[in-house]
Amino acid sequence: MDSPSPATISAGVRDNPAILTAIDTIVEQVQSVANAITDVRPPDPGLAESHRALLDRAAATKGRDLLYPYIGAGLGNGPLVQLADGSVKWDMICGIGVHFFGHAHPEMIRAALIGALEDTHKHGNLQSGFDAFEYSERLIELASRSSRLKHAFLTTSGAMANETALKVCYQKHAPASRVIAFADCFMGRSVTMSQIGDSAGNRQGIPLSTLVDYMPFYDEVEADRVGGHTNLIDRACRQLERYINRYPGQHACFIFELVQGEGGFNVANRDFFKALMEICRDRGIAVWDDEIQSFGRTERMFAYEMYDLGDYIDVLTVGKLTQACAALYTEPYNPKPGLLSGTFTGSTSDFTTGLRVLELLDDERWYGADGVFAKHHAQFREHARAMIERHPKWFPACPAVKELVGGVGGMMRLTPFGGDKDKVSKACKACFDEGVVLFYCGHNPYHIRLLPPMPVMKDEYWTRVFECIERGLARVAESE
Ligand SMILES: Cc1ncc(COP(=O)(O)O)c(C=O)c1O
Repeated sequence: MDSPSPATISAGVRDNPAILTAIDTIVEQVQSVANAITDVRPPDPGLAESHRALLDRAAATKGRDLLYPYIGAGLGNGPLVQLADGSVKWDMICGIGVHFFGHAHPEMIRAALIGALEDTHKHGNLQSGFDAFEYSERLIELASRSSRLKHAFLTTSGAMANETALKVCYQKHAPASRVIAFADCFMGRSVTMSQIGDSAGNRQGIPLSTLVDYMPFYDEVEADRVGGHTNLIDRACRQLERYINRYPGQHACFIFELVQGEGGFNVANRDFFKALMEICRDRGIAVWDDEIQSFGRTERMFAYEMYDLGDYIDVLTVGKLTQACAALYTEPYNPKPGLLSGTFTGSTSDFTTGLRVLELLDDERWYGADGVFAKHHAQFREHARAMIERHPKWFPACPAVKELVGGVGGMMRLTPFGGDKDKVSKACKACFDEGVVLFYCGHNPYHIRLLPPMPVMKDEYWTRVFECIERGLARVAESE
């Protein structure tokens, strides 16, 4: 669908040759400076004092020390990022999955500069420029290729996209007030999402007003224990039926995080989800797919496409690498006026960069079993397994997982030190010092997780990233 005629908006600005030339110059100049960043570098001793001062000021604003001594310098190059202490590190976590095209990507800088040309920076539900709708149109077009999703409501965080999704489900199934969620799920940190998210630490002191029934997520170890995949699925279906029969007509939705993020990069399979979604469909319970962490990263653009489950999805939430967050829903879930609104939908550059991300991702090269993302995932596994072979003592068996290397596509996990929380957290910090930014995920066991900037990864980077990881893990092992 065409955008409004340039004669009606931004004529003389977005098409202005002098402005376009200036944008080209800025992009080229940033690139030429960024190109000097080619490898990890230790901190510059001359910047130690000023960096410490920045960290102290940052900690004073937050009321606690930062988890990592990370203050970005504002420049990087692909997967490499420079910090304010002059160090350069491999960024394998990317703002917990936000900077999918890495640092100083020319297309992102260009899109952000175009976004900066608008007369105002923020858009809202009452007054908005068209960029917000153009972004939504593209998201809906991509989502509707293999689902019934038809409308999108934009939000400024993943948690707020989830709040939107929950309201849409509640209204459609009113007065049903219960929700079903998987054990170990994470949904964001609003009052309601902290309650549904399955982490005791994240809801300390939060009054519990939301009624949640937890289902076990797919578990390969458990499948073996109960005599196979089919038995595990049968048990899950029986448990779901029990909840539904215990509280007839009281469940508004079942929240499916098709690849669990914070919960430990846990992957399931089509049969498991399909069986549960069939029950939801039969019993009038909304199927809500939270792809805030997984969108774009698996072997298809949407995880529901990877599992061929699009037809079951009633409500979907996306965020992080999409730059602007959104709840999408099918026509029957389109809520009544008044339910959804809010001052901001986002800033213009959220939509211009978000749109560019969607355009760049709409490329079959990335996806499929032979796609670029699957190949990088295979390389990650190969390097991780080789490291495990070299250092078996760092990798004792962890009975809760079948393999010490896991995940899918651009969600990669590794389980050193038996998944012990303290050691995995120390390992992340040691790896940071050795030049690679990582984070952990899971709850007993804990894993090291990587959310790399997949489209800008090159094969040769994996060797160099793993050199840093190996040095970091060695430091933890030696300190024991
Ligand atoms: C699956 C999932 N849902 C929701 C959220 C919340 O998103 P945000 O942190 O943008 O509020 C996250 C964030 O990590 C997530 O991984």
